[in-house]
Amino acid sequence: MPIIAPSMLSANFLNLEKDIEMINNSEADWFHLDVMDGRFVPNISFGMSIIAAMKKKATKHFDVHLMILEPEKYFEEFAKAGADTLSVHYEVSPHLHRSLQVIKSLGMKAGVAINPATPVQLLEDVIVDIDLVCMMSVNPGFGGQKFINQTMHKIRSLKKMIKDSGANTLIEIDGGVTMENAHGIIKAGADVLVAGNTVFTAPDPADTIKRLKHLEK
Ligand code: DX5
Ligand code: ZN
Repeated sequence: MPIIAPSMLSANFLNLEKDIEMINNSEADWFHLDVMDGRFVPNISFGMSIIAAMKKKATKHFDVHLMILEPEKYFEEFAKAGADTLSVHYEVSPHLHRSLQVIKSLGMKAGVAINPATPVQLLEDVIVDIDLVCMMSVNPGFGGQKFINQTMHKIRSLKKMIKDSGANTLIEIDGGVTMENAHGIIKAGADVLVAGNTVFTAPDPADTIKRLKHLEK
């Protein structure tokens, strides 16, 4: 069964508590939390204070996706705010290996996010050090975009790399996941599905989470 990580970017910001409770009581596994700085991506979302507030009500794993420049400046603060997994973008991490070590030394799982144009092959020499690859299947910055089909091929290549290296890395697909494409994404080798729009615009979000969770390979 896939790990389901609803993205709070599509939640109702006027009533986060209600959406947090919905996820707590659903079959979702993780909360996916998108932090944007208006510099690395053309949008600004929320930061550590909102994450710390959400942590008080949430009962599941906090999967924090940093879409910010110089993420290493804030690792400690995100650890304090309650991040369980912290992902940094490959494209802003000249010292990726060091970043992964620091994230782990702070007690978090270490993730690396890659943009649609970034080849998975660039991760080859650090794959055994990565707990989670957040593979972007849209250009990061906004919820509700269309899935980029080339991602399917990238999932298969990454799966093979992980297998060949003996790593335990999870593959997370982030962006444009729908009820229609989710099954194919899992079959290609994804372990974690992020879903914002698909969950939060559904008439019954908890039921949508349940249907995603029960998709078989
Ligand atoms: C996009 C974010 C995603 C986003 C996904 O930059 O990283 O996590 O919330 O939203 P959907 O599922 O609506 O494409
Ligand atoms: Zn994300």
